Amino acid sequence: MKALIIGNGGREHALAWKIEQSSLVDKVFVAPGNGGTALEEKIENINISVNDIDKLVSFAKEEKVDLTIIGPEVPLSKGIVDTFIENKLKVFGPKKLAAQLESSKDFAKSFMYRHQIPTAKYKTFTNIKDAHEYINKEGAPIVIKADGLAAGKGVIVAMNVKEAMVAVESMLEDNLFGDAGARVVIEEFLTGEEVSFIVICDGNSILPLASSQDHKRLLDSDLGPNTGGMGAYSPAPIVTKELHKKIITEIIEPTTEGMKKDGIEFTGFLYAGLMIDKENNIKTLEFNCRMGDPETQPILFRLKSDLFEILLAASNKNIKNYEANWDDGSSITIVCASENYPNQPKINDEIFNHNKNNNNSYIFHAGTKLKNNKIYTAGGRVLGVTAKGDSLKNAKDRAYDLVKDIKFKGMQYRTDIGKKALENDQ
Ligand code: AMP
Ligand code: GLY
Repeated sequence: MKALIIGNGGREHALAWKIEQSSLVDKVFVAPGNGGTALEEKIENINISVNDIDKLVSFAKEEKVDLTIIGPEVPLSKGIVDTFIENKLKVFGPKKLAAQLESSKDFAKSFMYRHQIPTAKYKTFTNIKDAHEYINKEGAPIVIKADGLAAGKGVIVAMNVKEAMVAVESMLEDNLFGDAGARVVIEEFLTGEEVSFIVICDGNSILPLASSQDHKRLLDSDLGPNTGGMGAYSPAPIVTKELHKKIITEIIEPTTEGMKKDGIEFTGFLYAGLMIDKENNIKTLEFNCRMGDPETQPILFRLKSDLFEILLAASNKNIKNYEANWDDGSSITIVCASENYPNQPKINDEIFNHNKNNNNSYIFHAGTKLKNNKIYTAGGRVLGVTAKGDSLKNAKDRAYDLVKDIKFKGMQYRTDIGKKALENDQ
């Protein structure tokens, strides 16, 4: 069979790498892919943008692609799945209406309130004066979120009132995020430990994937601006069997049932970003309607089951009898980012030692490109150095050993991915 993956990040390199291993699959295309997928022998990059939906449909028809998997949120929010289905092409991902769970924070918050899914108290504003009044009334810390898609950068955790006021002004007045910031959600500040919990939904049933933990801030000790994610590991030790059950019954099932009640079926990856407090109370920070990046990399590196078979079953609404099996132990991904990320990343620098792969480690590419047999930086997050081991410590040491050898101009990475989990373990 033939598979087509849409996207060009680390998530898509990991998806393509995993799907290529399926005994059911003869050919994997990635549109447009990156330098890493270009180097893979059995994977072919197709030069079509993720947003050129008509061209992607034509390609899938011509090549008789058996299943298309959508990586990023933007084409999902534009209705790529609706168009593939209208053209009788098999595709895995949510339709446009369902993708609003991610593409509008206001939609997600009112959905959660309507279906009693625990989340932070909030209000939505389009008017700057009303927003300022609300901030003055609530005080700080407080969280300001652009309503629309902003590549993980539209959230500002303001530690004082002034910072919150400035954040609101930058969105409502200075259009920092364009239309995405024309409405802002202002939200109660939550404390606790964050967990990424991703399930595969077929519209009726769910199949949970292994838990993971992302590191959203740019710098060590969770300092600096929010990014798309600087590293992740799986599983998240905080998610015990009990907590796993609680997440399913308090968050995941009410979400899929709530969508059904609202007349919107959810098929695709459902990603719940959760905050867990000391008493194990769970609150939902956000929903994404796709796999996380970089969470995909450590999650898929531990997955023993055939992902293509599972996603094909899900796109046939037949996931009920499937389960996912995992390597024991842990896996981790360290993101190497380019100079100046997340603002204006510098690109076009040659990367050295980007392909030292074996059974226990793999360097997934993200913002890279292949030119004249050399690999260059082409985006903010450049590589996801991934390793597994019988313990998180073991996986972490392996990954950082590899990171030490990688070289490109201005490379930045966090040195403390997994540190908190290891400290909690002692
Ligand atoms: P989001 O895109 O909504 O997940 O927000 C990005 C990041 O901002 C989260 O991963 C958290 O680290 C932080 N964040 C979001 N909402 C809150 C909140 N209500 N309280 C504290 N931190 C938050
Ligand atoms: N790593 C967070 C996300 O993919 O949204």
